[in-house]
Amino acid sequence: MAKIKTAIKKLDEFNDLIVEPEPIDQFIKWYQEAIKFKVDQPDAMYLSTAGLSGQPSGRIVLLKKVNNKGFVFFTNYLSFKGNEISLNPFVSLNFHWKEIERQVRILGKASKVPKKESDDYFNTRTIESQVSAIISEQSSVVPGRQYLENNVREFIKKNNGKTIKRPGYWGGYRIKPFQFEFWQGREHRLHDRIQYRLEKGKWMTERLAP
Ligand SMILES: Cc1cc2nc3c(=O)[nH]c(=O)nc-3n(C[C@H](O)[C@H](O)[C@H](O)COP(=O)(O)O)c2cc1C
Repeated sequence: MAKIKTAIKKLDEFNDLIVEPEPIDQFIKWYQEAIKFKVDQPDAMYLSTAGLSGQPSGRIVLLKKVNNKGFVFFTNYLSFKGNEISLNPFVSLNFHWKEIERQVRILGKASKVPKKESDDYFNTRTIESQVSAIISEQSSVVPGRQYLENNVREFIKKNNGKTIKRPGYWGGYRIKPFQFEFWQGREHRLHDRIQYRLEKGKWMTERLAP
């Protein structure tokens, strides 16, 4: 614990003068530090969606890829979140890296990744995960656990020896960001909050009150 505390002291040197000009570079820097400091599940992100009614809903999904095109996760396109995104692609992501007192909020627009990208990722998954993705009508009401387990058994029996293909209803979304907030916990609640906003195609930064 003492080691982490000393590390955090170093991480404290965070202000608007030293942030990266591109927020994605700032994110990748923090993400790598989260990994370095052995944060529990640094790739877990809280995805908030809202359908047409405006009622928000959130859940954790895992970040699988991040670069200057955006943030990618994989899911069932027919799930509750998939349905919400099809009605309203504006979403929010939130990372909380508790051990290093950091939070990142991202606002962006979701779109499906190209089919090949979903195929490539699907093919890296274990057969068990592939089968679960295929048989689970994610977010629909099911009669019980037995129903799911039977579906797995039936699928395996029917497809024994065959190559498993990604179903069209399962794949990735990429969130293209237009706003970021980087939050660093500091002493006495005088935390740092640095926001990036796209203005006329250029990223500008500003400090928010904690
Ligand atoms: C640590 C963790 C990681 C998860 N990762 C994913 C993921 O990458 N994709 C996914 O569809 N669901 C993932 N889930 C499950 C979702 O939180 C959620 O239950 C599911 O996607 C259905 O959400 P929906 O009904 O809002 O569509 C994860 C849950 C946890 C706790």
